[in-house]
Amino acid sequence: MRAVLGIETSCDDTAAAVVVDGVLASSVVSSQPVHIRYGGVVPELASRDHQRMIVPVVRQALAEAGLAYEDLAAVSVTHGPGLAGSLLVGLSYAKGLAWGLDIPLVGVNHLEGHLFSLFLGGAEPAPPFLCMIVSGGHTQVVQVDSNFSYSVLGRTRDDAAGEAFDKVGKLLGLPYPGGPEVDRRAAFGDPSFVDFPRTHLKGVDFSFSGIKTSVLYYLNGFSDRERAAHLEAHLEDLCASFQAAVVEMLVRGLARAIRKTGIKEIGLVGGVSANSGLRLALSRLAERERLRVFVPEIEHCMDNAAMIAAAGYRKLEAGRVSSLALTAEPGLRL
Ligand code: KG4
Ligand code: ZN
Repeated sequence: MRAVLGIETSCDDTAAAVVVDGVLASSVVSSQPVHIRYGGVVPELASRDHQRMIVPVVRQALAEAGLAYEDLAAVSVTHGPGLAGSLLVGLSYAKGLAWGLDIPLVGVNHLEGHLFSLFLGGAEPAPPFLCMIVSGGHTQVVQVDSNFSYSVLGRTRDDAAGEAFDKVGKLLGLPYPGGPEVDRRAAFGDPSFVDFPRTHLKGVDFSFSGIKTSVLYYLNGFSDRERAAHLEAHLEDLCASFQAAVVEMLVRGLARAIRKTGIKEIGLVGGVSANSGLRLALSRLAERERLRVFVPEIEHCMDNAAMIAAAGYRKLEAGRVSSLALTAEPGLRL
């Protein structure tokens, strides 16, 4: 038996999971409600909460897998990108555990982790495949040539797609994070209610700051009283219109990457991959272009440690272990 513990603390979720012989045995995510009232993640509060939660979350993941610390073959941990103070909590804990148990430490890039959410059971894409990573901090299209060999074909030049969802959610008066809230309401709205302008860059790059500003200007066109009444009457329509624009921009970029590479195996990962509009648009594109599409289960779209344990397990198998000198790298790239 080979059991790998995964630890994820790059942002505001304290997560631990165990993969045994390549199969997910447990996955625990503790979210931090402390940020809701600030409408976004407060880094100092995030790292303090990680310190409070890391030990109980790991204990629970082990208990749910029916294992003891001594059963672990390796500890894998996100070491970047993310918030420095948050990364350091998970990384320091993982290093201590690896040192104490005398087992290998496996550093995982958070984005690579999202990619490995495609390898948590069920059908898997075979390299070379394309993967769109869409989250709160990142939006990029990656070509996966083999396990652990990636080339980035395009990325956002400003905001990430999830960031745009969250900022627009805030403008519309929705709680944080706005992504799931917008998604839920968009299902009941008219996507053609407002034709928000789409930004299409050359190649496979994206830009989402324009659409956010368009929504702001649109709302600023009303007096305070009118705006409240308009939101009351048309919140669903505005959510649907905004979501349709973001989805169109994402799918257009992905379609270009498909045309450019001729690759027909496509993965979609990261928090925004939970978006129902994006999933629907991608399945339509798949039908038209005869693609094979892979998406993680909804619970593995948002940040979790199952994906880190899955990546860690495969890296361990490939002998790609880290030294205990591994450092937190907030700006780490794929
Ligand atoms: O992957 P993730 O949990 O964290 C990062 O690595 O950033 O992604 C979080 C992001 C947030 O911006 C959240 O609003 C967005 O994913 N998100 C969604 C949906 N579910 C989560 N955005 C749109 N529609 C959703 N259903
Ligand atoms: Zn993430």
